[in-house]
Amino acid sequence: MRIHSSIADLRAALTGRGRVTFVPTMGNLHAGHISLMEQARAHGDTVVASIFVNRLQFGPNEDFDKYPRTFQADCDKLAAAGVDVLFAPTETDLYPEPQEYVVEPPAIQHQLDGEFRPGHFRGVATVVLKLFNCVQPDAAVFGKKDYQQLMVIRNMTRQFALPIAIIGGETVRADDGLALSSRNGYLSAAERVEAPRLFRELKRIRDALRQGEQDMTELENAAVAALTAAGWKTDYVAVRQQADLSPPQGIGVPLVALAASRLGSTRLIDNIEI
Ligand code: PAF
Repeated sequence: MRIHSSIADLRAALTGRGRVTFVPTMGNLHAGHISLMEQARAHGDTVVASIFVNRLQFGPNEDFDKYPRTFQADCDKLAAAGVDVLFAPTETDLYPEPQEYVVEPPAIQHQLDGEFRPGHFRGVATVVLKLFNCVQPDAAVFGKKDYQQLMVIRNMTRQFALPIAIIGGETVRADDGLALSSRNGYLSAAERVEAPRLFRELKRIRDALRQGEQDMTELENAAVAALTAAGWKTDYVAVRQQADLSPPQGIGVPLVALAASRLGSTRLIDNIEI
């Protein structure tokens, strides 16, 4: 696996490499990331991953400084997964001057996760557009675990007519249902035992809807109440339309139940398609 930190070196290395599939990450890789790499392999001749902890998408009181940085272990995992090229820019490589031109996503950036993480999706969209320009991939793979992020990137790519196919990768879960996430490492042993409750509540919503329940607000409120009773502090539990994450407007449209809740000081997100 070749590792490049400069944009110019990366572009030179990718010249003539056939169909390029790209998987951007912030590192601290787990089996969920590796499954995205495997999916990327199926879509292209050359798989490019990136590792960059993007300051622009973290709020002032968020975990940018303590975000786990495990570069050597990540390189070993990427090489073992058959990744061809790793783009690992420093902040100076990617932001040699303050990034004053930004991508401003539409109103959805202020809803769901965006309501609780102001500026987050602006930071994500901006860095992803920049990474796309550096790598110039034919396809890019993003995990469905960050469902709202996937939707923002899919719509940005379509509206800017970027010639990149956006592929959603299924969430990888531990045996007890907890979605794999770099932030799971913040959980204490007791919190780790409790953490699968978030997905259990989402499954409860899915099952009730499948059985014909129609009062989505009631289902959302019941999930929040169950989480609160178990000591969680919930930002939102919401049933939305898959396509644009707007509130459900009709029967039979594909839905997704999404949640973000805090266990101790760790904020977990998850979702389930219905
Ligand atoms: O999902 C992530 O790891 C990040 O948001 C991404 C897409 C790499 C942008 O920094």
